[in-house]
Formats: sequence, structure tokens, C-alpha cells
Amino acid sequence: MEIFDKVNAILAEMNAAAPQNAEETEQFRIKYLGSKNILKPLMGEIRNVPNERKKEYGQLINKVKQAAQNKYDELKAASENAADAAEAQDLDLTAPGEPLELGSRHPVSIVMNRIIQIFERIGFTVSEEREIEDDWHNFTAMNTPEDHPARDMQDTFYLKDSMQMLLRTHTSSVQARTMTTEKPPIRIIAPGRVYRNETISSRSHAQFHQVEGLYIDENVSFADMKQTLLYFAKEMYGVDKEIRLRPSYFPFTEPSAEMDVYWGLESEADYRITKGTGWLEILGCGMVDPQVLENCGIDPEKYSGFAFGMGIERQAMLLYGIEDIRLLFENDVRFLRQFASAL
Ligand code: DAH
Repeated sequence: MEIFDKVNAILAEMNAAAPQNAEETEQFRIKYLGSKNILKPLMGEIRNVPNERKKEYGQLINKVKQAAQNKYDELKAASENAADAAEAQDLDLTAPGEPLELGSRHPVSIVMNRIIQIFERIGFTVSEEREIEDDWHNFTAMNTPEDHPARDMQDTFYLKDSMQMLLRTHTSSVQARTMTTEKPPIRIIAPGRVYRNETISSRSHAQFHQVEGLYIDENVSFADMKQTLLYFAKEMYGVDKEIRLRPSYFPFTEPSAEMDVYWGLESEADYRITKGTGWLEILGCGMVDPQVLENCGIDPEKYSGFAFGMGIERQAMLLYGIEDIRLLFENDVRFLRQFASAL
């Protein structure tokens, strides 16, 4: 009989139903067990069933109801168990998710970026160059004599089977790269990594970073250099900072100088860092040697210029009170995380 088929179809559909959450379980309850459930109208249909089959029909309807009730009870129990299990694990399902952790800049990058910004404000542009250099740009063009100790294998990493190719020992090689390819006026800074065959200790490393500066034009004077460097020191270390230039020697500048910044002598650490003088050496500088201009194809009769080069790690160590340079190369996130708010 058609009506039996209808009820059996509802039974099959009910058995196949698979509510996935509390809301779907409630829909299931309303549909099969609620006050307006799907079986109600069929119950009324019993009057159209022939007498000899009325009992059978009533039993079938009851079977569906009972099965729906059992299924619903099971669903309820399962969801309660899940909630209990979550609670047992101390799992707060309403808690907000874990925050996504952002990385932080490396202290060397922070200091390097600051230096770049300071010089960009007065018209220097950034020139990034190769770390694998040839002997000419790193040494010869920069007036480093053949017998200079820096050219020794003990101090410089040469590429295998070649005394012509090396890992640059200073960013001064970018001076030669720029002067041979660009015409004055030249106003660049060259940040980057350099390499030396050094024993690694708390104070020195075989790789580190420098920022080189080069300014070439007509009538560039030592006074221009001094003003530029004074501006840098004040921007970097504070408006009240003084600088001093001490005579020095570099093969590629004449005259040459080293610049100190007045650091202060307030704490015990200041005494240690400045060896009791209050002054800190920050960079080397000088007027570009006319021979270097000539080596690079720039007329020293017409043009003059100044150059400077400074180490980054040392400045980062000073500014952040880092005592061991090796920390800057180990990439231990517990160390690096401390600079998350630095810039
Ligand atoms: N290249 C030098 C070094 O690595 C630093 C330096 C000194 C660079 C004087 C310069 C300069 O441009 O004029 O120690």
C-alpha cells in the first residue's frame, strides 16, 4: 500500500540523516519528534487503512518514532561527551585564537637603515654592489700596494685557485665600481657585507657590515667632509654630540682621518667602552687620493672628493649594549626578539 511506502521512506530518510552540530540536531528533533513532526499527518491517515492492517500500520509509525527518539538521544549524548572531553582537556572553545607572531628586524639592519636614511636626507643615493670582487677594485684601484699586509692570504678570503677573485674586504671597492662607471657629481653610500680572514671572538668576526660614503664634485673640501660627518654624528647619536677628527692613514685617502664621537663618561660601562676617554672611534675618512681618482678615470685636476667608511656591528653593539659580536650572527630568536620594538 502506498501509505506504508510513505512511512518507510520517512524511516529510511531518518536513518540516513547525520546532523553535524547542535543546530542540525535540533532540526532533526523538530522534524521527527516535535509537536508538528512529519509523522503526525500520517498518523491521521490510519482511518484510510483497512482494518486488518491498522495494527501493522500503527506499529510501523511507532517504530519510526522510537528509532528517531533513540537516534536523537544518541546524538545528544555524543555532543555532551565532546563538550565534557573539551572541558577535561581544559580547552576553552570560546577563547580567542593564538596571535600570529611577527618577526622583528635584525639589529644590524636597524642600524644600517638608520644610517642610510640619515645620508639619503642630504642627497646621497644607495649603491649596492657585489660581494665577490676582483683584486683590482678591492685593492689596486684603491692604491693598496702589492706588498700590503691586507693582500695576504692570511687576511683575505680568495676564491679557490685564484688570487684575482676574492670576498671584498671593505665596501671601499664600491668607490672604484662607481667612479669607473659614473661621472661626477657622485654622491653615494654603499652598505653591505664584507669579509676578513679573522679569528672569531667576542670582538671580531670573519664577516661584518660596513657603510661606505663617497662624494666627488668640483671644489669638494675637507670642510665639506667635516660638516657632513658632524651632521651624521648628531643625527645618529644626538644633537649634543661632539666629534673630533684624528690624523690617520689609509692608502686611498690623503689626508686621512679617523672620527671619534663623544660618548660620555657617566656610567662604569662608559669608562669601559671608551677606555676611560669618553670618545669612541666610529669611522675612517679622508679626501680621495688624486691617484685613486686617476686610477678610476676621473680628472684629479678638475674634481676632488671625500670618502668615509664605517662598521655597522660596532655601532649596533654600542647603541644596544651588546657585549659579544657573535650574538649578531647566531640568529637566536630569543636574542633577536628583543629588538622587535626598536624600529
Ligand atoms: N676601508 C676602510 C676599512 O675597511 C675604511 C675606510 C677608511 C673607508 C677611510 C674610507 C675611508 O672610505 O676614506 O677599514
